[in-house]
Formats: sequence, C-alpha cells, structure tokens
Amino acid sequence: MQIIRSVADLDAFVGRALQQGKTIGLVPTMGALHAGHISLVERAVKENDVTLVSVFVNPTQFNNPDDLATYPRKEEDDFRMLAEAGATAVFAPSVEEMYPEGTQSDHQFELGTAAEVMEGKFRPGHFQGVAQVVSRLFRLCRPTRAYFGEKDFQQIAVIRNMVASEHIDVEIVPVPIKRADDGLALSSRNALLTPEQRKVAPEIHAALKYSVEYAKDHSVRATHDTVVERINAVPHMEVEYYEIVDGRTLLPVEEWSESPDIVGCITVYCGKVRLIDNIRYK
Ligand code: PAJ
Repeated sequence: MQIIRSVADLDAFVGRALQQGKTIGLVPTMGALHAGHISLVERAVKENDVTLVSVFVNPTQFNNPDDLATYPRKEEDDFRMLAEAGATAVFAPSVEEMYPEGTQSDHQFELGTAAEVMEGKFRPGHFQGVAQVVSRLFRLCRPTRAYFGEKDFQQIAVIRNMVASEHIDVEIVPVPIKRADDGLALSSRNALLTPEQRKVAPEIHAALKYSVEYAKDHSVRATHDTVVERINAVPHMEVEYYEIVDGRTLLPVEEWSESPDIVGCITVYCGKVRLIDNIRYK
C-alpha cells in the first residue's frame, strides 16, 4: 500500500491510474479507523480497480475546539488496517497541504434544506466544512465511486446535494451501519467513553430498535417521545435531538403515511461524548 502525503504525489498517482483506464474507489475518513470504516474499504476494493482512502482530521468541520483537540489519532494502526483490507493507497496530508491558502473560505456551498436541520442546526458550519473537504478530495482524487457510511445518514444527503450543485461526476455509494455485538454503532468517538459509559451506550440502539415495533401501533409523536424518555432515563445519557424524518428530504414527518421512506436520526451525549445513530422505520 502506497502512503501519499502531498497533493503533487496524489495527482501523479491518480493520473497514472486513470491513464490505465482504472476505476478509482475513494473512502474519505478522519482516521482512528474501526470495522465500520473497514467495511467501506472492503466494499470499495470489491467494486474498483484502485482503492484510495483519505485519512485527514478536517479542522473546518469541527465547530467545537475541544472536540477537534480530543479527536483520536492513530496513524500507524490505521495504515496497518488499511493495508490488510487491501487498499491500494492512503492519502494522509497535513492541514497545510490540504489547505495551502488557509482554512478560511468565502465559497458557500449550496447544500439545500437537508443541511439546515439536525446536525446543521446543532453544529453550525459543520456541513460547509464537510463539503469543503469532500469537494476538494473529489477534485484531487477524481474517483469513479465514493463510499459513505449510513451512520452519518444526513452527511450522505448533504454530499449528494453538494455533488449536484458543484457538478461533480461521481457515484455516491451508501454503506450500512456496522455495529458492535451489543448494538452500539461503531465510532471513533467510542474510544473516548469511560467503561461505565460504554456499558450503557448500547441503550441508544436498543431504544431505537424497540421503537420500530412500538411505531406499528403508535403515532410519530408517541414513538419520538418513547425513544427520548427511555434514553434520558439512562445514567450519563442525554438526548440532544431525536427527529423522525423523510429519508430523502430529511424534513420531519408528522404521520407515518407521509412518506415511503422514514428514518429516525438521533444524537446523544454520553457524558461529554457525542454519539450519533439512526434507524429506518420504512
Ligand atoms: P469519519 O467519521 O472518519 O467517517 C468516515 C466514514 O466512515 C463516513 O462515511 C462514516 O459514515 C463511515 N462510518 C463511520 N462509522 C461507521 C459505522 N459504524 N458503520 C458504517 N460506516 C461508518 O465522516 C467523516 O469521517 C468525515 O465527515 C469525512 C466524510 C471524512 C469528511 O471529513
């Protein structure tokens, strides 16, 4: 597996692959890799001639400086896991290499209403930062396909809007959420949980799973409330938001009959650690 640090080397690598008529699968990540990330890499390896993984903790998508400072970094382990998963190359640039003109940008991406709700509301600027780094990665890596996890359900919708408004020709491939045996969605942030917090964290998925059964004979409002009450009753846990939305527009629904595609998106503080998850109702 080739380790690429500079934009010039990346450009040479990508140029060679395209000249040889190869398809490129890109997996953008912020490192501290786990089996969730690896499931994206394995899918890319299956479907493309070349699999390129980016490892870059993007400062422009963090609206909380503490979150950026404590974000786990484990480059050596990451590179070993990526080589084992069959990645062709990893692009791991410095902040200066990624943003030679500085991280400030005047360009406002058109991300639609999907970027204004939920994460967009609670993390101002977050999706502009995601769009900034992902559009730059797309322009540099020129991928045939790019892989994103459904754990960040809203992120996929926002990236689809970004690709459309920026006229970037790439196939966005969503990959199902990978969970620990006890149901907790795998996340780099799980490493920050204390043992007690880690023990109760699976309650997020348990409450969501239970609510799918509950929803069969209850309203959207009652289903929403039962999830929030159950999770808030757990020590260390506090729901930041739970929204039951149309899976395409990400706007809240009031009736189950409103859409053929309905997803519940949740963010929970487990101590100081912000965990995110979702579940499909329809
Ligand atoms: P990061 O949180 O490192 O996630 C990288 C990719 O892995 C994302 O597409 C995310 O949805 C996916 N992923 C994380 N946990 C997963 C799980 N348990 N199951 C399946 N997929 C999972 O998301 C980002 O980085 C950044 O915003 C990024 C897109 C790289 C832009 O900086």
